[in-house]
Amino acid sequence: MDRELALEMVRVTEAAAILAGRWMGRGDKIAADQAAVDAMRRMLDTVAIAGTVVIGEGEMDEAPMLYIGERVGSGEGDPVDVAVDPLEGTNLVAQGRPGAIAVMALAPSGHLLHAPDMYMDKLVAGPAGRGVLDLDAPIGENVLALARAQDRPVEDITVVVLDRPRHADLIAGVRKVGARIQLISDGDVSPAVAACLPGAGVDLLAGIGGAPEGVLAAAAVRCLGGTMVARLYPEEAAEAERARAMGIDPVDRLLTLDDLVRGNDALFVATGITDGELLKGVRYRADAVATHSVVMRSLTGTVRFVEAEHRLERKAQFGKRPPADQ
Ligand code: FBP
Repeated sequence: MDRELALEMVRVTEAAAILAGRWMGRGDKIAADQAAVDAMRRMLDTVAIAGTVVIGEGEMDEAPMLYIGERVGSGEGDPVDVAVDPLEGTNLVAQGRPGAIAVMALAPSGHLLHAPDMYMDKLVAGPAGRGVLDLDAPIGENVLALARAQDRPVEDITVVVLDRPRHADLIAGVRKVGARIQLISDGDVSPAVAACLPGAGVDLLAGIGGAPEGVLAAAAVRCLGGTMVARLYPEEAAEAERARAMGIDPVDRLLTLDDLVRGNDALFVATGITDGELLKGVRYRADAVATHSVVMRSLTGTVRFVEAEHRLERKAQFGKRPPADQ
């Protein structure tokens, strides 16, 4: 894929972030999501790709835009798989909490796992976790192995976990070996990326979150040389059936990074919506809007943090504000 694409893509997540960020704290996650979807969809058509959405807002009958199978982009160039989450962390924006991002990944056609919208059990760590993480081993063993691989005391290892009742045993297992835990209320893509970035303050993402979010995170993990192991976690027979129909059979098979993102030609881009450890949120000023994004390319391993100023004269695009409550 053309290297210029990486910077083209950042415009797409910037637009989604700017429009979604206007809804911060307004208590309306659907409106925030819709704003992000509309902006991302519009901007995507300006990008020179022949894209097909493989991770998106749902099936064609559930989502009018950015549905699985939708063609996006100008139609130029080789066919590519497109994974999007215009607003990763809808509750975070609605409640004005940190860590919401607009995110997108690209890879040559057939290279991104076509993951159904269901849960996925995931372990993600940086390069030190390669060959060390084992989804079938108790969490405590994984944490200890990761500490050993880096010659660090286990007490210094920080594990990020979604704060959900389903993770009670996992949390207990981490505590038992003495590692630190960061509980998050939503949004497990950002901490997965952070776990692969040296100095980002977290070492391991563990637990069950969305499968689409898993594929998006995997693109970043690929770019950063990190490691990820995962397994779909269907909650009902119909979900397992869908996974099989999408080619994941047996449904409970272990998914490695190679299964999630094939080859070494992936792009990952994300823009902060609300402030987070990885990215700053959107700043709205009198004359401009400022955004903070990260762009990565696996082929070269380049990671760019992009601070952008968007003039407010482009009001039609970025000036739309949600109405005040009546
Ligand atoms: P939305 O942006 O769709 O609200 O999802 C956010 C998220 O927190 C993901 O980051 C995570 O993978 C998933 O939801 C967890 O699902 P659940 O809230 O059902 O535990």
